[in-house]
Amino acid sequence: MRFVLTMVGLMLFTGCSEKPSTEHKARSVSSPETEDSGVPQTDSPVPEDDDTGSIEFDHRSAKWCAECHPTQYSEWRESMHHYAAHSPVFDKMALKAFRDTAGATGTFCTGCHSPLGTMDGEPGTTTAAERSEISLEGVNCVVCHQAVSHTQPIGNKSLELDFSASIQGPFSDAVMAGHDSVKGDLIDKPELCGSCHDVFNFPGLRIEEAYTEYQSSPAADEGIRCQDCHMGPNPGVVSERRIGKAAVVAGVELPDRSLSSHRFVGPDYSLIDRFPYSDLEESAEAQDAMLEQIDTLLKNAVKIADVYTEETAEETLLTVVVKSLTSGHNVPTGFTSERQLWLEVVAKNDETVLFSSGDLDSYGDLRDHLSWSVIADDVELDEQLVNFQSLNLLRVGDVAISTPDVYETIFPFDADYIVRRSLNPLEERRLQYTLPALPEDAEVTIRLRYRNLPPYILRALQLDELVDRLQIFDIDTVTLGSTP
Ligand code: HEC
Ligand code: HEC
Ligand code: HEC
Ligand code: HEC
Ligand code: HEC
Repeated sequence: MRFVLTMVGLMLFTGCSEKPSTEHKARSVSSPETEDSGVPQTDSPVPEDDDTGSIEFDHRSAKWCAECHPTQYSEWRESMHHYAAHSPVFDKMALKAFRDTAGATGTFCTGCHSPLGTMDGEPGTTTAAERSEISLEGVNCVVCHQAVSHTQPIGNKSLELDFSASIQGPFSDAVMAGHDSVKGDLIDKPELCGSCHDVFNFPGLRIEEAYTEYQSSPAADEGIRCQDCHMGPNPGVVSERRIGKAAVVAGVELPDRSLSSHRFVGPDYSLIDRFPYSDLEESAEAQDAMLEQIDTLLKNAVKIADVYTEETAEETLLTVVVKSLTSGHNVPTGFTSERQLWLEVVAKNDETVLFSSGDLDSYGDLRDHLSWSVIADDVELDEQLVNFQSLNLLRVGDVAISTPDVYETIFPFDADYIVRRSLNPLEERRLQYTLPALPEDAEVTIRLRYRNLPPYILRALQLDELVDRLQIFDIDTVTLGSTP
């Protein structure tokens, strides 16, 4: 019965006057077992029971899809595409951008992070606490599966959504039991992803460039798509797809399919307790599973390829070779002004630290120009720090008169240019450190580390309470015994 209600919802929401083609359904749902199955009762297009005729849920809701696609639903539910509309960091940062531009951002930020809420008229200052149920679904199923085409240039949400269109899927022979579907032109292409994974023109800056980087990558040359690396069982690499049923509908025989993962593992994870479930324990379990996946993704992305030292009488020259393992785009990519991928180098003799770079100050930040401890002169600037995070730079002064001062800003949208330090696809980069001459029994430990957000950003957004939730991933570690 529920399906029928939903179709009514569809007509209301889309203003579509035609009954969505039920012939297909009538033909394929023939088994008597469909009686109790949530499968469309195609012979009664109007609810028999009119007092339940109120629209219980929106046909655009993932909850509807969940009835027949439980696996895709639970994967998506735990993903950052769902989290996009729950993230406290997003909410605070979007509010800041809105304030800083006296409202000129409008719904620029929310348009990508909670597309349906924005289409329904929620203002750009809406936060998770105020979002409607559908808005809280963030980038949900229909945003991808009813995106029928894209505009140019790709990026800044260049998608055209049509909620009266057939579901856009990867198969050309889908069994019609539940809805119409077609093999989409866009769904299996990198342009679908690129429409949101390139963020530019704010204000005139290219804030995110995963798609742009991908376009000139070796992966693109070989025809490897975003979907190949990001929707298989092994995150970040092309891996063999799971085989199984694409839907579960009682009484309907479905063929085996090559399936995709909708978890879309990236370095982000939930910073709130009640995501993705209202039950705390269930949420904690899902979040732990996500952290494990992130660890795998990062180990698939980059490694320490080589480490060697050269001794002189006064100093030790240490060379660390860091290698990107991905041909898809830079590492880090996307939100690079915030992503910290860095090297920690510590030389010790017993418990005495002889040299250290990439260590954290008392606030948990790297000792860079944005460290409160460095600014307060409590610790020294880490002169040799290797960090692949982008720099947001702001010129202050008039170039026509003199050389302007250049400052680092916390947020990319406060900068007037962004300097990328990320590794190009498959790049091997040699980093050199000058250490003091080391005693025979010194031990040097080199760690390649990753953190999705630096604590200073959370403090700048007055989200201090979230700092403790930040995780550092150790991607690779090399230890040199006593130096040769
Ligand atoms: C970010 C975009 C995106 C979102 C959100 C999304 N999908 Fe998909 N989905 C895809 C892509 C892309 C494919 C095809 C994968 C490929 O080409 O390898 C796909 C494939 C599928 C398939 C075919 C079977 C399979 O597992 O591959 C089903 C069914 C499906 N999605 C259902 C859903 C449902 C249900 C939701 C919401 C709970 C959802 N999708 C959310 C992009 C998305
Ligand atoms: C009443 C059950 C039912 C509901 C509800 C449902 N689906 Fe499906 N869906 C199916 C069945 C059955 C198939 C066919 C599977 C096959 O052929 O292997 C399918 C196929 C698909 C495909 C692949 C289509 C293709 O041509 O490649 C996608 C994508 C998809 N569904 C997405 C969704 C989304 C998104 C929603 C919610 C907006 C949804 N489905 C709701 C039953 C349902
Ligand atoms: C409608 C816009 C939209 C589309 C289309 C889209 N994404 Fe996303 N994606 C987002 C947003 C927004 C986030 C960040 C959510 C957050 O954490 O707040 C995201 C997050 C991700 C992440 C996780 C990033 C992290 O740091 O954890 C991955 C991986 C990803 N997307 C891959 C893809 C791929 C692959 C496709 C195409 C199949 C795709 N996306 C399509 C908007 C989109
Ligand atoms: C050859 C495999 C491969 C391809 C192709 C690929 N990626 Fe990735 N992607 C990775 C790996 C590995 C990582 C983890 C390293 C990183 O974060 O850069 C990643 C990370 C990401 C992240 C998280 C970035 C961050 O650090 O916040 C996003 C978003 C993303 N990819 C989107 C895309 C999109 C969009 C495409 C297609 C335009 C794409 N990827 C194509 C392998 C790939
Ligand atoms: C064109 C789509 C798009 C627009 C517009 C957009 N974003 Fe995003 N945003 C993304 C994608 C995609 C990611 C994931 C990138 C990654 O992980 O590398 C992301 C990630 C983020 C994250 C990190 C994830 C999280 O939830 O903590 C924050 C914060 C964020 N965006 C804030 C903003 C703000 C503020 C604006 C407006 C100034 C904005 N975004 C505009 C697509 C967009």
